[in-house]
Amino acid sequence: EGNDGYDVSKLMKVTGNVTLDSGFVNTASCSSAITYIDGDEGILRYRGYPIEQLAEKSSFLEVSYLLIYGELPSQTQIDDFDQKIRRHTLLHEDLKAFFGGFPRDAHPMPVLSSAVSALSTFYQDSLDPFDKEQVEISTVRLLAKLPTIAAYAYKKSVGQPFLYPDNSLSLPENFLRMTFGFPAEPYDMDEDMVKALDLLLILHADHEQNCSTSTVRLVGSSNANLFASVSAGINALFGPLHGGANQAVLEMLNTIHQDGGDVDTFVKKVKNKEDGVKLMGFGHRVYKNYDPRAAIIKKTADKILTKDGVSDPLLDIALQLEQRALEDDYFVERKLYPNVDFYTGLIYKSMGFPERMFTVLFALGRLPGWIAQWREMIEDPQTKIGRPRQIYTGATERDYVAMGGR
Ligand code: ACO
Repeated sequence: EGNDGYDVSKLMKVTGNVTLDSGFVNTASCSSAITYIDGDEGILRYRGYPIEQLAEKSSFLEVSYLLIYGELPSQTQIDDFDQKIRRHTLLHEDLKAFFGGFPRDAHPMPVLSSAVSALSTFYQDSLDPFDKEQVEISTVRLLAKLPTIAAYAYKKSVGQPFLYPDNSLSLPENFLRMTFGFPAEPYDMDEDMVKALDLLLILHADHEQNCSTSTVRLVGSSNANLFASVSAGINALFGPLHGGANQAVLEMLNTIHQDGGDVDTFVKKVKNKEDGVKLMGFGHRVYKNYDPRAAIIKKTADKILTKDGVSDPLLDIALQLEQRALEDDYFVERKLYPNVDFYTGLIYKSMGFPERMFTVLFALGRLPGWIAQWREMIEDPQTKIGRPRQIYTGATERDYVAMGGR
């Protein structure tokens, strides 16, 4: 008989030898050859290539190829991949009609996940996870259509007309034009913005078994199709402790700014855990030294946010928060450093994206990672349906009590 009145021997008999690991802090759910992270050293590599080199020298398209197919592409391979994606950017007109059904103030993340889920109704010819050709076409369709879906979700939220994709443009260019352009008007492409977006997409492209990727794998382990699995991943990403953090960071910076910019009072609140307030954009389950993506983004943020000599007051608050945290025992002892989301919101804001689009941009970046992980899981002969166990803590057996006796 345990302290709580449970018969431990009976519990063990029922559950066998089960390990409780809330949040999977120490439990690997799979083996994977895609992304390597060393949280203590602040190392992130995609297929062995350091994130710093990819950020400097590669493109989002190439990184997507690398993650999904395992190797850097030859010129012919990347040209072919690019052409295929450009050919599939259009949405079916009936799918376009979906956007009209959502309320005007709908958050674009559930719009995104609903539209991705709906893709499996439009492409019933490519839902078999074990047919290589079908997986290939689903991969291309998803990569090509998600930017169009994301741009339409934005246009819907601001009540502007949708733009058809222009397939003479690259993926980030096309996305920016569909988001900020207007039909029948030339779109003035800002090359700095294209570069910054491409970099942000690269930095978000994969991060091994994070919450949304684990969701994609778990759903896919039931042999659910790629669209259904990725749609579930988008919903997992929506949470403020995961992808939703970039929106939450900007909201936090805005609140501090509106309250007079007093960083110390806010930090005190965080340390006292008042109302569960956290320093959003800080801390990471794996990185306990620094997040290498945050280090790269900080440089970009400094450059973009001080362009034309004008500095964003929210950047000053962010820099002050970072400095306080680096000096404060509370954060040092808990190894809390800025994560990738601490600066991304500020960059997205300077590009003209509303806060609600920030997590959508994260989803665009993470898509090749989700696809690569789903494909690796499907091809792995060791894969079994994901089915965690539990430690039961409910009532022991008791007899049903009739209504009059309760
Ligand atoms: N601000 C203040 N305190 C924090 C923070 C934070 N951002 N993060 C963790 N802590 C504290 C916890 O309260 C806890 O303190 P305690 O030991 O006194 O109880 C300690 O640090 C350990 O934190 P855990 O919650 O156990 O760490 P975990 O690894 O489970 O959580 C997470 C990681 C979810 C990222 C957390 O740090 C957090 O909530 N951060 C803010 C949200 C955020 O920025 N998320 C984006 C993550 S990156 C991404 O998804 C791309």
